[in-house]
Amino acid sequence: MKLPQAQVALLRAADANEDRRIADVADEADVKRETATGAAFELEDEGLVTVSEETVESVSLTDEGRQYLGEGLPEVRFYRAAIDAGAADEPADMGTVIGGAGLEGDAVDIALSNFARKGYGEIDSGSVHADPDADPDEDPEAAALAAVESGDAGEADSDVLYQLERRGLVERSESTVRSIRLTDDGVTALMEGVEAAETVGELTPELLTSGEWEDVEFAEYNVEADAEPVQGGKEHVLRQTANRVKDVLVGMGFKEMQGPHADAQFWINDCLFMPQDHPARTHWDQFALSNPQEIDHLPEDLVERVRSAHREGVGEDGEGYHSPWTEDVARRVDLRGHTTSLSMRYLSGEQIGDLEPPERYFSVEKVYRNDTLDPTHLLEFFQIEGWVMAEDLSVRDLMGTFTEFYEQFGITDLEFKPHYNPYTEPSFELFGTHPETGEIVEVGNSGIFRDEVLEPLGVDCDVMAWGLSLERLLMLMYGFEDIRDVHGTLADLELLRETEVVY
Ligand code: PHE
Repeated sequence: MKLPQAQVALLRAADANEDRRIADVADEADVKRETATGAAFELEDEGLVTVSEETVESVSLTDEGRQYLGEGLPEVRFYRAAIDAGAADEPADMGTVIGGAGLEGDAVDIALSNFARKGYGEIDSGSVHADPDADPDEDPEAAALAAVESGDAGEADSDVLYQLERRGLVERSESTVRSIRLTDDGVTALMEGVEAAETVGELTPELLTSGEWEDVEFAEYNVEADAEPVQGGKEHVLRQTANRVKDVLVGMGFKEMQGPHADAQFWINDCLFMPQDHPARTHWDQFALSNPQEIDHLPEDLVERVRSAHREGVGEDGEGYHSPWTEDVARRVDLRGHTTSLSMRYLSGEQIGDLEPPERYFSVEKVYRNDTLDPTHLLEFFQIEGWVMAEDLSVRDLMGTFTEFYEQFGITDLEFKPHYNPYTEPSFELFGTHPETGEIVEVGNSGIFRDEVLEPLGVDCDVMAWGLSLERLLMLMYGFEDIRDVHGTLADLELLRETEVVY
């Protein structure tokens, strides 16, 4: 019978009458231990040996244990110093003995408590009395430390070992030891004769040119063997999902918007008919920039029309807010709390010139809010912004668009709830069901822009719009429960490594 070299070596070293440790057999046969273990399993597959396993406990010294083995246990050093200080005859000063033993820090307490416990002597109000009959050379714990070091832990007294473990001087660990034993078939094979086959693991140019490939035996592939997992870099699931969202929206006829992360409150709030004393405009909600504090350019005509909408309202029945409105506030720069600032820039013509209906735009970009961190809130997250500009849009168009969009991600149980936004009427919040917890999760906010928003922008048809959370979409798709699993220092690396965004 021809077998790979390692298997032959192992087979010859194995015994039919007793288990032999693979490690010992490997050392004897001069085969690497890992190779031997692999070979043993292959021989077992061929029925030539049996492999057995046992869990063995081993005891080893901790760093502290090793230190004491070298310099002596603190209590032993203390005892010797006490004898030197004459404490066997007359009480000696404790400070002197500590100094004489060269003990410092924690070692002092360790020495004192064990000195008394082991009966090396007594300590009473600062004076030390040493027992002249104690023999530090016979200290059982010192002996056990030495035994553990030389691999003879089995010979040490179990109570003493326990004591050393309690003191943190030794530690126990478990390992699996595998042994092999020849089967009857193995014995037969050996008697009939086994020889080492030169197996070749790789076809090389030399084998090809020399023609040797015709004679060699190739090692068989074990397609069931566990391979070492390789963790390469990969695109973050959030980025993968963002790209997928972009693909879907482009497929639905949308174009992408781009614009500043830090922007004038004018674009973030004023164009959206949010009064300047609206609570969402304070530092409780939005981050303000200290440099630059103000934007340089705002389109003058638009500023005037927006001011008028806020002060006087829009249309015949317009009322406005009757609250103060200043351009100074509008010029202040904040980190955008939503990407609706981009929608305002595009709809006003500021970004790419005037647009004619029908038009559809989207962005998948970061927004920043001064929220309190919790499982569903971060200080920054990705918003899927979008709008459709057309004649005669209704709520059905809005719902239909969301249904079509979320279906692409396998989410078919959307729910809509009437809502309030200063800038849309009607408005709807969107909800989906969490696949793991069954909870209803808010995934977005939407509506149809009010005249007070559209008229100053110079848009005279309908515009429906929305802001959806990318992270919440991801939650519904993959079922994780804490947004911090995918962001920041608490991120769940396994989730990030293993989640596949497929569509
Ligand atoms: N800006 C809203 C938010 O951040 C989303 C939205 C955009 C709602 C456009 C209506 C219209 O929640």
